[in-house]
Amino acid sequence: MKVLITGGNGFLARHLLRFLQNKNFELFSITKSEFVDCDDLQVTNFCCDITDENLVDYNVNQIKPNIVVHCAAMSKPNDCEIDKQLCIKTNVYATALLAKSSTNHNAHFIFLSTDFVYGEGNNHCEDDECKPINFYAESKLLVPLLDLYLFMVQLQIK
Ligand SMILES: NC(=O)c1ccc[n+]([C@@H]2O[C@H](COP(=O)([O-])OP(=O)(O)OC[C@H]3O[C@@H](n4cnc5c(N)ncnc54)[C@H](OP(=O)(O)O)[C@@H]3O)[C@@H](O)[C@H]2O)c1
Repeated sequence: MKVLITGGNGFLARHLLRFLQNKNFELFSITKSEFVDCDDLQVTNFCCDITDENLVDYNVNQIKPNIVVHCAAMSKPNDCEIDKQLCIKTNVYATALLAKSSTNHNAHFIFLSTDFVYGEGNNHCEDDECKPINFYAESKLLVPLLDLYLFMVQLQIK
């Protein structure tokens, strides 16, 4: 089973890569820099800016993953507030590219949102009303609209 984890040098991705070591998964990552910053991890890395459509599709096609865990993101709320355009490009557009490539290659696609979409406090459940507290959370809330986008992509394929 091939698992591709995007943002391989990020906080969550590195924990996930470590957790999945020696569990019969073939691990791949995509990072902005050339290397995964963990010498002891067995992972094949592809250097790729996830906002580059051609590179994303080329790399997903090379890897042919069964599962894609999309951890790469602009994840610092302050950075998202300062550069909203880059936030949308990274958190929404690049997610669409990866989801499209994953769908085209029949890979299961896992996207990570944030509890900030539910507003203040930390005792939330998935059915709670969404009240995003910052632009970072708003960008994450736009992603479910990708379901519609993918539906349209699938229609074109058929
Ligand atoms: N950590 C949390 O507590 C938490 C809570 C809720 C949700 N989440 C979500 O979980 C996911 C992972 O979070 P995290 O804390 O692990 O984030 P992180 O440490 O900031 O890691 C994100 C990674 O994405 C990479 N990245 C950003 N833009 C890229 C691009 N254009 N091309 C390729 N790679 C790019 C970054 O690379 P560089 O380092 O090279 O910039 C970084 O390694 C995110 O979707 C985040 O929103 C995290």
